[in-house]
Amino acid sequence: MINIKDKEIKELLNEMTIDEKIGQMVQVAGDIFLEDDINVSTGPLKNLELSEEKLYNVGSILNVIGAERVKKIQDKYLSKNRLKIPLLFMDDIINGYKIAFPIPIAQGCSWNLEVLRNIAKISAMESNIAGANVNFSPMVDLSRDARWGRVMESVGGEDPYLGKVYAKATVKAYQGEDISRLGNIASCVKHIAAYGAVEAGRDYNTVDMSEREFRQYYLPAYKEAIENGAEMLMTSFNILNGVPATVNKWLIQDLLRKELKFKGVIISDYGAIEETIAHGFSKNEEYAALNAIKAGVDIDMMSKIYANYLKKWCLEDKEIENKVNESVLRILNLKNKLGLFENPYSNADVEKEKRYIMNKTNLEKAKKLTQETFVLLKNKDNVLPLNNNSKIALIGPYADNIAITGSWSMFSDKTKNSTILDVVKNKVGNENVLYSKGTEILRCEEINKILKVENMQTISIDNEPLKEKEAIEKAKEVAEKSDIIILLLGEHYKQSGEACSRSNIGLPENQVNLINELYKLNKKMVMVLFNGRPIQLNNVENKLDAILEVWFPGTTGAEAITEVLFGDVNPSGKLTMSFPQNVGQCPIYYNHYSTGRPHNSDFKYLSRYQDIETESFYPFGYGLSYCKFIYSNLQISKSKMRKDESILVGVDVENKSQYEGYEIIEMYIQDLYASVVRPVKELKGFQKVFFKPFEKKKIEFEINSEMLKFWNNDLKYVVESGEFKVFIGSSSKDTLEEKFEFID
Ligand code: BGC
Repeated sequence: MINIKDKEIKELLNEMTIDEKIGQMVQVAGDIFLEDDINVSTGPLKNLELSEEKLYNVGSILNVIGAERVKKIQDKYLSKNRLKIPLLFMDDIINGYKIAFPIPIAQGCSWNLEVLRNIAKISAMESNIAGANVNFSPMVDLSRDARWGRVMESVGGEDPYLGKVYAKATVKAYQGEDISRLGNIASCVKHIAAYGAVEAGRDYNTVDMSEREFRQYYLPAYKEAIENGAEMLMTSFNILNGVPATVNKWLIQDLLRKELKFKGVIISDYGAIEETIAHGFSKNEEYAALNAIKAGVDIDMMSKIYANYLKKWCLEDKEIENKVNESVLRILNLKNKLGLFENPYSNADVEKEKRYIMNKTNLEKAKKLTQETFVLLKNKDNVLPLNNNSKIALIGPYADNIAITGSWSMFSDKTKNSTILDVVKNKVGNENVLYSKGTEILRCEEINKILKVENMQTISIDNEPLKEKEAIEKAKEVAEKSDIIILLLGEHYKQSGEACSRSNIGLPENQVNLINELYKLNKKMVMVLFNGRPIQLNNVENKLDAILEVWFPGTTGAEAITEVLFGDVNPSGKLTMSFPQNVGQCPIYYNHYSTGRPHNSDFKYLSRYQDIETESFYPFGYGLSYCKFIYSNLQISKSKMRKDESILVGVDVENKSQYEGYEIIEMYIQDLYASVVRPVKELKGFQKVFFKPFEKKKIEFEINSEMLKFWNNDLKYVVESGEFKVFIGSSSKDTLEEKFEFID
């Protein structure tokens, strides 16, 4: 649907005063409008230094959702806005709105575009009827460093190819054909650019990398999102090669606007324009405004800079005024595309909210989608699936806990979350389930450190809920009576997400103690792991018979986990980030370059560590199933390929088990020598295929010259003649290989 005409938008722009224009470029948290008496001298308004008059000119609202609230705010705003330009409502629907889905890193582990599409569609519908116009998702920052807390938000993990295909699938699912239609929302892709490469994995830190490296690995996912119609982009907090991304002219103007022809709206991240002062790039607030507008940022999210310092430059410099006009035009166009001029409430609808949100069909769907995101990391002697008749001890702080939705699920309705304890009891009967908490997720002093910086109530050590030793003893008593121990352990949800960088990515010491003590009982032990990042497991893995990685699985997590543990559903996810041996290996990723001294023997002078293995603990693309898949007979249709040709590679995959299930078959390529060194392996394709018991299938991939291209040192995207290897396998490590030659 095309709404009011381009001409009318331009006329509207002409009618606007400079204050009204600048107002459109400011985003505030909308709770302010809900106060009966708006008080500009306290709270967020004070920090933003906004007068009431300025407030009624702002263009968009951050993280207010709910049809009734949205309508109320829109009404109040429009009653005082001279030109009746509706507000835009933008929200962080990161892994769902009321239904919390698995966190993005988990979604990526499904290696199933339909899983991402379905999650995006349901999230878009739920949030759109609750008044959301724009979603700050997907986050497609390439993530190679498990210390960085935000890896939990990255759909593609450490892989540029996955990042690309997931970016496209998600953006298209959010936006549909027409963003004004019911159930569609505009997608704001973030964070431009290379935020995942922050030094030492410390959030907001510096990023410095060659342009070639940037184009090759970090840019593809953002580019794919742009090419598939993403309406908005968000800048990142980091410096990119000396210049903060938010005021980086090369990034925003040369690359995004000119080269990639991005026509949509660019918003700063939260307060990021103002932060260019702390970076030591902008001299003061006035110059922060100047730098950001010159770079081409359209909306200032939650800082006082545009609202208070942009006007001066507009009055002084015609060119700046023109830039403001361009930005406002982009914002008005987005509002128009969303149909807000015809219907400022958009699709917000209280009745529909009641009928649709958290409906049964979607909850059932959510459970199935969630199950595809789990990764079975270990299953010694097929200890899983569990036997319905055994006596099970559920032990650990996640057994009786509904806080399994991750750190971005602030809107989710937790009333529908079940505990694993309840669901398992329901399934196998109370008499077959024993329970003991065993330990807290974190010790008091550790959780208090986290709560303190969030200004939240800390826990008094005297009131420490569980005394560590006593609790472990109790757990041992309980476990003693069982046939098998299921440990429900992991990170606190506040340990991953924004501003959650960690230098220790192991399980908390108290949880490790619990494992060590229970191990002494000599019983079978299965760990279900809740977390938002790759966890260091080398100190506990050998004590566990099975490990099921479930990330933060969301609203239907408990049901989904139970069905997988008992074999009603076969796990099929695979890792999108390598798990390191220990944190000293970070950043670690499978698609690295080869050194001149690859570690391939016991010789000393090789690129290796003295104290740990060089390889990751669990590689990218790894994940088990209750099926046993055997790969054989890799075949290649020809050994030489020319530019306009393609070749087929095939492999036989056989399910040697009585279970049915999905296998993700991965295809990688290596360019053996080139004008710049190429990675040892790069994912170029995958298929998720269903196998019946004992079924054997031939799986084929097509290779064409596009897949062999790379950015050379002249910053040209080229393919060079030479030898290549193709690998097909069940992970980045476990592959069969063949060679072929490309002739230009
Ligand atoms: C985060 C963004 C988020 C924004 C709005 C920032 O702190 O970096 O990812 O979309 O806040 O909540």
